[in-house]
Amino acid sequence: MTKKNKPNSNALFKRAVNNMPLGVADSYRYWGEENTVFLSSMKGCTITDCDEQTFVDFRLAYGPIILGYRDERVDNEVINAITQVGSISGFSTGLDSDVVELVKSLCPNIDKMRFSNSGTEAVIGAVRTARGFTKRNKIVVVEGGFHGLHDEVMWKSDVDNWDASTQEDPEIVPFGGGIPESTREHQVSVPLNDLDAIDAVFAKYGDDIAAILIEPIMGNCGSIASTQAYMQKLRDVCDNKGALLIMDEVKTGFRVAKGGAQSLYGIYADLTTYAKAMGNGYPVAAFGGRAEVMDTISFAKDGVTHGGTYTANMVALSAAKATLTVLKETDALETIARVGKEIQVVLSRVFTKFGVEHCFAGPDAMFGVHFGSKVPQNYRDWKQTNSDLYTQFALNLIDNGVMLEPDSREPWFICEAHQTVDLKWLEQVAEQSMADAINVK
Ligand SMILES: Cc1ncc(COP(=O)(O)O)c(C=O)c1O
Repeated sequence: MTKKNKPNSNALFKRAVNNMPLGVADSYRYWGEENTVFLSSMKGCTITDCDEQTFVDFRLAYGPIILGYRDERVDNEVINAITQVGSISGFSTGLDSDVVELVKSLCPNIDKMRFSNSGTEAVIGAVRTARGFTKRNKIVVVEGGFHGLHDEVMWKSDVDNWDASTQEDPEIVPFGGGIPESTREHQVSVPLNDLDAIDAVFAKYGDDIAAILIEPIMGNCGSIASTQAYMQKLRDVCDNKGALLIMDEVKTGFRVAKGGAQSLYGIYADLTTYAKAMGNGYPVAAFGGRAEVMDTISFAKDGVTHGGTYTANMVALSAAKATLTVLKETDALETIARVGKEIQVVLSRVFTKFGVEHCFAGPDAMFGVHFGSKVPQNYRDWKQTNSDLYTQFALNLIDNGVMLEPDSREPWFICEAHQTVDLKWLEQVAEQSMADAINVK
């Protein structure tokens, strides 16, 4: 991929393959033997690799960085907490309620909350709570949505290998080995923004549907967003059929608006999951919602069990308290939206110059870039976009010092520190990268 020599990164990779499968701690970090990225430092909106190349980063660790790397407003609170109080005790502190009350002040959909350590765990907790409350089994998910790495949600619509010219639905396949067929039993998948498909699954399985689990704006599918009518349909069908609406706001929460995606729609979930932006990169996550539903977590005979050794540790909660306080009390999210908009204007000018049909999906704080004339309405539409050109453009950007995921299903993430980016430089780099991508000399 890269034209640059990376001797230090390559040496670190050679060492790492003896220690970890694929030489990485998370399989998605493997970018091939020559191109797997090893960093030496991060600051603001930049990351620097072990070969001293600095990148302006729009990948932002897949979304958690909302203020900037090494933001002192957050880091100092964490340092204070662990040096003045402690890191973990297996007991409660007042910080638990401090954070919940902050979330409640931003998100009217939350009465009660529980913490977890990752988005995956938050989704597991929300789904179990929904099943405990409704005493039903099935979960409706949306094609192209992502809800973490636990077996039950590691089934995907194989749009990559789907023939868009057929009337057939894409095949549902596991993410890989080790996922028992039985974990699929209670999952039903629908295309986003297809109102009839929702009616059809409720007609077929309605009495056993515990919840619809949805990313309202698909942060793992190019920020393709639910329409207002679709969100309303989901809310209505859940209310009418006794199912719960779970919004997975692991990527959108505290990023697209203080109250998350649901505040943009004005349509609220029964249960919501949060992570990522909640802690500006520290590992904190949570799920919460209506008191009546959350109180299913109890020691009653059929009460739901939830917890974990590291739940609500001081590192996570002090980071969440500091981050949420900044997001609540400053105009950081307005700055992020403004900068995100300006960057789209720059990119649009470049694409237009090269005659590349393009559109943007989702909000300015995490926008998807799609090479096609119409904003995709679901994952199947994404297949019609020129994602190969996007990948080539993205690889060239990386070469030229702009980091992003070379896959148009991953949005561009903006943090407050991006306000320092020189947009003229970005435009030049984008022009060069597009020229190389379409072989214009
Ligand atoms: C919407 C959504 N849900 C859940 C997860 C899983 O979160 P984690 O990687 O923290 O387990 C992700 C991760 O990207 C996500 O984007």
